[in-house]
Amino acid sequence: MAPFTGDNSSPLQFVQRCIESNCHAEYSIEQRLYVCKECGGLLDIELNGTLPSPASLKSTWKDRRASSESYDRSGVWRFRDVLPIKDEATIVSLQEGNTPLYDAPRSASYCNLDSLKLKHQGCNPTGSFKDTGMTVAVTQALMLDSKLVACASTGNTAASLAAYAARAGLPCAIMVPAGQVSAAKLAQSLDYGAAVIEVDGNFDGCMATIREISDELPVYLVNSINPFRIEGQKTVAFELMEQLNWKVPDHLVIPGGNLGNSSAFGKGFREMFASGLIEQQPHISVVQASGASPFARLYQDHLQNTGTLKLEPERKPHTLASAINIGAPVSWQKAWRAVNETGGTVLTVAEAEIADAKAIIGRDGIGCEPASATTVAGIRKLVQQGIIQRGQDVVAILTGHLLKDTDYTGKYHTGTLFSESVETKFRNEPVKVSGAVDQISAVFRRLIDQREYKSDELALQQK
Ligand code: F0G
Repeated sequence: MAPFTGDNSSPLQFVQRCIESNCHAEYSIEQRLYVCKECGGLLDIELNGTLPSPASLKSTWKDRRASSESYDRSGVWRFRDVLPIKDEATIVSLQEGNTPLYDAPRSASYCNLDSLKLKHQGCNPTGSFKDTGMTVAVTQALMLDSKLVACASTGNTAASLAAYAARAGLPCAIMVPAGQVSAAKLAQSLDYGAAVIEVDGNFDGCMATIREISDELPVYLVNSINPFRIEGQKTVAFELMEQLNWKVPDHLVIPGGNLGNSSAFGKGFREMFASGLIEQQPHISVVQASGASPFARLYQDHLQNTGTLKLEPERKPHTLASAINIGAPVSWQKAWRAVNETGGTVLTVAEAEIADAKAIIGRDGIGCEPASATTVAGIRKLVQQGIIQRGQDVVAILTGHLLKDTDYTGKYHTGTLFSESVETKFRNEPVKVSGAVDQISAVFRRLIDQREYKSDELALQQK
């Protein structure tokens, strides 16, 4: 933890404001709130004031990369000019952010694109994008003198909160659906010392219960309904633009679960556009697993009938991409705004499409967890549909690390993830040999011949 004695002594004021157009109620950032007290709408953090010029901001952010202050080196706090945290705050950081933006030629070829960039948020300290929001939410928890921080989670929010709470020395409780969280994610939360509460039922049930409890007890809830989480996560959009030398991509594609991440990117790009840091916004598209796709259904319904927007929760969501096994996303209105304002789209991909896309991302030497691979599967579909053009600039957000769910990956490559009727196109089963030198050298010879490698490349082009 570092005391925040930085150079952010500007007189900027931030407020919390209801996003509902017929309400817009305003609250101070010192209030522990998740939704509007007047109408129950989601809250945005808003800046009341003017930022320094785009040129000066860009140069400040660049200079901070060379600084030895720990909060300058964080990919989130480097952008603190756009964060609603007071100078006297004690920053809780694990030096999150600064994640790589990779060229992914095999994934590009799989999608029939000339090129594709993958921003790997799985390279954060706890292996998922949640850290960029959690650093701000837990810092705010300290500001508010919270007694306990808590969340409902499919695993990654929990692991991230557990780590940041440990850094802050705050008690932490997480609620997870029993038997539906990967072993790796659960192990993280246990190791970081969180109280882990495994509940019968699904994520949506955990989320509803924890919202109820946090209204009654002095608990600080840090799911993405918490606007401070979104503030941290929005800085990823700023970092991405810096990495792209401020050249805006045509398309940005994000996996959708509880819909906090797409909300955050939407907010980040909207703010950069409003303050003149960029001259246009990318089309922001959201991809859901077909078995857990209430937002995609809302989008489809709205194309046919443009009446009042109302998301119908999916009662029994089911996807093997357990991170996004969510039927009642809490931030859908903000995610809708992001898609709608930027002319993006919402689509679904099937289980086998997710699994194959994940294996292709692996072949780029990058790897990710299943939920992240919805992006590449979705981009492939959008190219097929002519919504993305071959030569356009496309960025996909990978949200979690490959090692978050090795059970899924192992099953894919040994052909046991799905029933036998589902073909896994890029299966890479271990070769079992007795250990005799001649058997092993036969395998090596085959590899040196590269016959397998080349035919695999060919298959990739043709699929
Ligand atoms: N990808 C991964 C790896 C995730 O863990 C999540 C969400 C998402 C995508 C979807 O992001 O909810 O902002 O739309 N995980 C949450 C959790 C729900 O509890 O870890 P979203």
